Amino acid sequence: MRLVPVLLVLVTTLAPTSLPAETRPPSHLRPSSMTQFLWGAAYYPEHGELATLDLDAERMRAAGMNTVRMAEFAWDLMEPEPGRYDFALFDEAIARLGAKGIRTILCTPTAAPPRWLTLAHPEVLRVDARGVVQRHGSRQHASTASDVYREHSRRITRAMAEHFRDNPHVIGWQTDNEVNCHFSEDFSAGAVEAWVVYLREKFRGDIGALNRAWGTAFWAQTYARFEDVPLPARGQPTHLNPAHHLDYARFIAWTVARFQRDQVEILRAAQPRWWITHNGLFRLIDYRGAFGRDLDVLGYDVYPMFSWDPRQRGATQAWGLDATRAWTGNFIIPEHQSGPGGQTDYFHDNLEPGELRRMLYTSLARGADSILLFRWRSARFGAEEYWTGILDHDNVPRRRYTEVAQVGAEFARVGPAVLGTHVAIDAAVAATDFDNTYGHEALHFGLPAPDQVAAELHGHLWRTGHRVGVVHPGDTLDGLRLYIVPHFALVDPAWLPRLEAWVRAGGTLVIGARTGTKDLDNNVLTELLPGLLRPLVGATVVEYGRQNMPEQRPLELEIGGRPVVTTAWYEQLEPADGTDVWLRWSSRHLAGTPAATLRPLGRGRILYVGTYLHGAVGAALVPELVKLAGLEPALPDLPAAVEVTRRESAGRVLWFLINHNEAPVTVRVPAGRDLVGDRVVSGEIELSARGVAVIQTDSAR
Ligand code: GAL
Repeated sequence: MRLVPVLLVLVTTLAPTSLPAETRPPSHLRPSSMTQFLWGAAYYPEHGELATLDLDAERMRAAGMNTVRMAEFAWDLMEPEPGRYDFALFDEAIARLGAKGIRTILCTPTAAPPRWLTLAHPEVLRVDARGVVQRHGSRQHASTASDVYREHSRRITRAMAEHFRDNPHVIGWQTDNEVNCHFSEDFSAGAVEAWVVYLREKFRGDIGALNRAWGTAFWAQTYARFEDVPLPARGQPTHLNPAHHLDYARFIAWTVARFQRDQVEILRAAQPRWWITHNGLFRLIDYRGAFGRDLDVLGYDVYPMFSWDPRQRGATQAWGLDATRAWTGNFIIPEHQSGPGGQTDYFHDNLEPGELRRMLYTSLARGADSILLFRWRSARFGAEEYWTGILDHDNVPRRRYTEVAQVGAEFARVGPAVLGTHVAIDAAVAATDFDNTYGHEALHFGLPAPDQVAAELHGHLWRTGHRVGVVHPGDTLDGLRLYIVPHFALVDPAWLPRLEAWVRAGGTLVIGARTGTKDLDNNVLTELLPGLLRPLVGATVVEYGRQNMPEQRPLELEIGGRPVVTTAWYEQLEPADGTDVWLRWSSRHLAGTPAATLRPLGRGRILYVGTYLHGAVGAALVPELVKLAGLEPALPDLPAAVEVTRRESAGRVLWFLINHNEAPVTVRVPAGRDLVGDRVVSGEIELSARGVAVIQTDSAR
């Protein structure tokens, strides 16, 4: 039964227009192609919501909402038996919500196949590195590498696409749900088959090329045929070849992108008006690669309460959002925490009054172009029966709903204003590079991962009120004054000309130890270190070493006039002509030798620091880097723990001011219109505890 009165077709004119498949290179400065700000929640008709649907829709509208997201775990209901489809429940829910002006994002339901499928095709079940076959009974137990599972994924996607093609209330799609969230590795028979296909393609059918690239002469690993190459399992029995390991990571990313592309092609062919997203971000997916490029807009699920210490929550949330933007630019949030989450082994702190609103504004300030909350109402059964939604189990609207409704009223003004803007930053750390993440994981000596160090440095700049973000070295550095590349052992030569041009134009580039020491196969370079970077850096690494028990033999360097002990790694440097010594080691056998060098270049400079930039070293270094680059905080006299970002487009600047303190603060602001309070402001304003303002001005001055 179709419940779509003709009148309602008009509602769809409010929907975003069809978005083109993304073809521009990903960039942190890229606005999304959303043409309407979506505000809503995850909704589950399959959990019995039809009974309350009309009231739900009215409450959603009263909270300013315009969109729900559904069906990501409803395959069992939509195809109760092989080939018999039943979409009646969703037809009714979509139509009744649509009648009240709430549109729907549908999801392909492939994160949880029906039981008949895993019974008929047990070969689709994922297998872990120990050979344990995953079981039916939770989710993500099917292998995205399996050709059999791909066939079923295409089938349900096609059935849904054909069925909903003409439904005016369906505006877009999410592929699957959080691919690789629980489980990213795959050792199933399907994965083994796909691995051979991948390797043959990658090495163009030449097994000799694989042997050379991986250095298989080490420990008798030479392979005669692609079919002979095993999937690498850590610790079985001992250390893996790091090149083999990195290619396995690339392989998993390839299988996941391939799995998603199957669905994307079907959806695009069925209805060109639809736009497509996916909710990430998880392990072993290259969102800058095919997986991200196949989407119109990337989705990022925001759950700040996993940061258990309330004092860290703001910085951690900002890091996640900035890292997401580094992958592909502005994004949407298909799931945003709305209440404490609980699963078997944890239950989050309750969100205190104003905390949800504060989080939502941080998300908006750092690149979200639409937000859907997770979830409309708490489920009463299943593994997430204590995952709190906007409404409690008893359906009584309490303070979470009131806060959501308040934000909804504000978003009616702020939401449209953010569309088309990008987040303007002047300092950034390099992170989110797939090869470096998994290259490091393959062989790490217990050193912190590059993105972990980047997150710490980002946190120092965030806490001191700087307009900091995350930028991938393949991206534009326009607008930046300071750029820190922590420890990217794998350097793509294609990055170098742009880095150099940016430095010559006035940028301050900071490079941490071990950068540029390996090739893209994850093998060590034989050139003098730091390898490809040596000409740019103007210095050579003459000795390096791990610091295992720094308290026993502390190796110190002086930063900002104070001795700091390095806890991870040291390098002794030798500057070339024209490069200065910036810091020296001050103890043990290195005393007096260069620890950091500074090469002036054009109007800028390159600082190479021969140690890990984490812990005490990073904390002491960041204020010095700020001075070196001449950075100013986002606004003058900014009180501690007030987050300020600028989102801008031609002729429009939005200043987001977010008070992370549990007490009011006074902030000097640019003159303009505060879209949150709907008032004109200038001079000083007071932000209440966890209070926010979004001030629109014509220019950044
Ligand atoms: C997300 C997931 C949702 C739900 C939520 C709360 O990671 O996509 O389906 O599980 O977390 O746990």
